Amino acid sequence: MSKFIIQGGAKLTGEIEVKGAKNATLKILPASLLSEEELIIKNLPNIEDIKRSLELLEDLGAKVIKQNDVYRIDTKNANKTTLEPEFANKFRASIMFTGPLLARFGEVKFPHPGGCVIGAGKRPIDLFLEGFKIFGADLTVKDDYYHLKSKALKGGEYFFSNVSVTATECLMMTAVLAEGVTVLKNCAMEPEIVSLAEYLNKHGAIIKGAGTPTIKIKGVKEIRAGSYEVIPDRIEAGTFAIMAAAAKSSITIKNCNPEHIESLLSVFDKINVKYQKGKDFLKIKSSGKILPYNIKTHEFPGFPTDLQSPYTVLMTQAQGSSLIHETIYDRRLLFTDILTQMGADIIMCDPHRVVVNGPTKLNGRKLTSPDIRAGIAIIIAALIAEGKTEIDNIYQIDRGYEKIDERLNKLQAQIIREE
Ligand code: EPU
Repeated sequence: MSKFIIQGGAKLTGEIEVKGAKNATLKILPASLLSEEELIIKNLPNIEDIKRSLELLEDLGAKVIKQNDVYRIDTKNANKTTLEPEFANKFRASIMFTGPLLARFGEVKFPHPGGCVIGAGKRPIDLFLEGFKIFGADLTVKDDYYHLKSKALKGGEYFFSNVSVTATECLMMTAVLAEGVTVLKNCAMEPEIVSLAEYLNKHGAIIKGAGTPTIKIKGVKEIRAGSYEVIPDRIEAGTFAIMAAAAKSSITIKNCNPEHIESLLSVFDKINVKYQKGKDFLKIKSSGKILPYNIKTHEFPGFPTDLQSPYTVLMTQAQGSSLIHETIYDRRLLFTDILTQMGADIIMCDPHRVVVNGPTKLNGRKLTSPDIRAGIAIIIAALIAEGKTEIDNIYQIDRGYEKIDERLNKLQAQIIREE
């Protein structure tokens, strides 16, 4: 198992480029199944979750050709409608293939998707299953597989009882080829959803309202393919910004869209982290004392759950107590136990809330990365800790951040990857 060995205490300096958004790419790859034409994708991040998604796409019969940084996806000969557990169990976003397969072939068979253990038990897919029924699809569950079948999908109306990013995107993709009009209510509003809708609209779909709680989709007979450039990863951008603030460093984050992390920047205004933003860059300036501030994670445009763990590390350096309220996932605060082992003063109130009492000195330790976002948070903790930290199970970090060691080392971090 690979590990990182990180020497703490380095001041970061220089520029870092944000890669393409993982959570946008994980939707555009399945969307390639909505058309028989070739899709050309630029700015695809080279990370483990995307490799898993490409493997699944190939298993479904698609041809994937990589030319430098450009991927050409040809799904003309894709004809398989079953997601094999050997692929689907490896990542939660395998569920994103179900809608496009159902829309194109009228059928899809799939196991419960795998992925990070950040919610109680298996992360639910009830909204997907319920939502598919509005199109007239029949669902059977047998031998650990869900099986959806429909002769002709018809548009309908669905109200999401929980706001879900992937369920919104999945039903939106299904509706694009369903007959008639579909109205989705209480939708998630994340930039990745807007980006997916923009791509689909450019290639024949009729989707209105993406980025608002109500999305209306008028079904069309076919979708053309074309080219798509993956939007910058807002979570990477926010993570680097928090990292610089925690390490009291000045760095420039390039190729990002600061508008996508306004919730974080508004918090920076409150906690004395100085920054300068442009259309596609963000400069974080070495700041003085960091002030404490309570946050509550929320769907976009609120404070993203995917930035909660880095922010929790930052609050260990603040002058006072902050309440971190994680509203989306049940297990995303469990990693704070690792910060406590490093010397942080954190009190868990219940599975959704912790109080972080800062400032505390952190000390390097031997640790294991529990999931993608907790993993990057531990890297931040290790960078500001005294001494060496050894992090095991870094596959979890490689799932979401491309060559993070090499990129941070260019900022003068001291990270060694041991295979
Ligand atoms: N939920 C249900 N039923 C469902 C689906 C979701 O109850 O059928 C609940 C979940 O249990 C959770 C809430 O709804 O409490 C939100 O989950 P959501 O479905 O929005 O999460 P997701 O769509 O599976 C996406 C990102 C996550 C990100 C969340 C929230 C992708 C591939 N994943 O997940 O990203 O945290 O939205 O913004 O887009 C990550 O990148 O590390 C990550 C986990």
